[in-house]
Amino acid sequence: MQEEIATQPKTADEHYFTSRDLSRIPNGAFGDKVRKGYELFVNTQQLKGRYVGNTLNCTNCHLDAGTKAYAAPMWAAYLAYPAFRKKDNRVNNFAERIQGCFNYSMNGTAPPLNSPELIAMSAYSYWLLMGGLLDMFGMQDKPVPELDDKQLQLGGNDEALVLPGPLAGRVKMSGREHMPGRAFAALAQPPEPASPSLGEQVYGKYCAVCHGDQGQGREMAGVPVLPPLWGAQSYNWGAGMHRVNTAATFIYENMPLGKGVQLSVQEAWDVAAFINSRERPQDPRFNGDLNSTAKMFHGADQSYYGKSVDGSLLGSQAFPSGVQP
Ligand code: HEC
Ligand code: HEC
Repeated sequence: MQEEIATQPKTADEHYFTSRDLSRIPNGAFGDKVRKGYELFVNTQQLKGRYVGNTLNCTNCHLDAGTKAYAAPMWAAYLAYPAFRKKDNRVNNFAERIQGCFNYSMNGTAPPLNSPELIAMSAYSYWLLMGGLLDMFGMQDKPVPELDDKQLQLGGNDEALVLPGPLAGRVKMSGREHMPGRAFAALAQPPEPASPSLGEQVYGKYCAVCHGDQGQGREMAGVPVLPPLWGAQSYNWGAGMHRVNTAATFIYENMPLGKGVQLSVQEAWDVAAFINSRERPQDPRFNGDLNSTAKMFHGADQSYYGKSVDGSLLGSQAFPSGVQP
């Protein structure tokens, strides 16, 4: 499900898209959906035990409430769906893509299509995109046009999304999936193959202070404040972040938090290899046989699933996947 999105080269001086300030979310029923989507995005823990199986929030990976370029921002994602996905050989709409992150990144059980949760998160993403586009093309005073629930969940890569006024001709259908800043920035290959053991040293030096000696993160007064990187409360073996290349580009760009782009390329790859060679919740597609599951779903991935590191066969001691009773 968590198909890899091609990274994009980062160009110097690129002016990235800016979404509208949250204070401009309108009053009324449509604005309420947008606001609820924002609240679910930054505090996804309110769905723990129901749809969420770990201690993460969407914003832990989609930084700045899903607005940061190259941290898989929601404005760029919204414009890219519906999209054909090779893996399940069909077209996925935007809400279905969100379901993927519930099932894997949040180690949960996705809310159903047409649920208030998926409608709200889709509305929030649409609002980020459309408000920013209107501002960008000199229509700062124009409110974001309201869409019905069905269209909100569809996404913006469809003729059905009519862009207002002069925007209509500017945002062409072809290329909607390539908005600059989408997904993650391309990262150079490491000079030496990524090494979990060297990564452990990087981890101790730069990461453990926040994410904990055992990658467990930290809670204060029962509220998760620093997200875990492995173990029972982390993303599962099917999540995009479990791939070493995806984690390496995320980490290089964004970590340590607030001091991104200070690790060397090698260090980013090594530490990504380290955190992704520890046990985490099982891949929900596990068929009872580690070898065959690894072959079927991770054959082309840069993944440690089904491989041995430091004497442990990864995936063989995995924590339970999905919401636990
Ligand atoms: C552990 C990190 C993590 C968490 C938590 C997470 N995601 Fe994601 N998400 C990713 C990664 C990584 C990708 C890119 C997938 C890839 O390249 O494989 C992604 C992709 C997406 C996309 C598609 C982006 C695009 O440009 O195509 C959407 C939409 C999305 N996530 C929504 C959510 C929502 C909503 C939540 C919370 C319910 C969430 N994600 C939680 C890591 C995460
Ligand atoms: C100053 C504290 C701090 C340091 C140091 C730090 N992080 Fe983070 N990290 C965070 C916070 C906070 C988040 C969630 C961001 C948010 O919610 O806005 C995060 C998110 C992440 C995520 C995505 C969410 C998850 O739990 O999977 C990964 C992966 C990650 N950090 C890896 C690292 C690595 C590797 C290092 C060391 C190179 C590192 N971090 C250093 C605070 C830190």
